[in-house]
Amino acid sequence: MTKVTYHLPDGTTEQVDVQLGETLMNASLRNNLPGIVAECAGSCACATCHVHLPKEYTHFFAEPTDEETDLIAYLDAADDDSRLSCQLVVGDCDAEIHVRVADSR
Ligand code: FES
Repeated sequence: MTKVTYHLPDGTTEQVDVQLGETLMNASLRNNLPGIVAECAGSCACATCHVHLPKEYTHFFAEPTDEETDLIAYLDAADDDSRLSCQLVVGDCDAEIHVRVADSR
C-alpha cells in the first residue's frame, strides 16, 4: 500500500491509499476524486487522465510508452512532467507520492 496525495484542480488535496499494482487513475476513480475523467477506462486512448508527476517520483513508475508519449503530445496543458495516470502502476514503494491532477473536464 502506497500513500498518494492528489493535488486537485480546485486547489485542494486528497491523500489516498493505493494498492500494489493499481493505477493512479483507478485509485482516483475509486475515491471519487475530481479531475481524472478516464473516458477510455485506462486504454491509453483518451488522455482524460492527465496528471503532472514531479521528477522526484518518476523512478517509482515505468517509463512512458510511445503510445502514451504520442497522446500527451496532443494535450494543450502538456508539460515535461506530464503522464497519463492510467499508465502509472504503483509498485512496491514505501514513499509517499505526490501528483498534480490536470483538469480533464
Ligand atoms: S484513461 Fe484514457 S488515456 Fe488514460
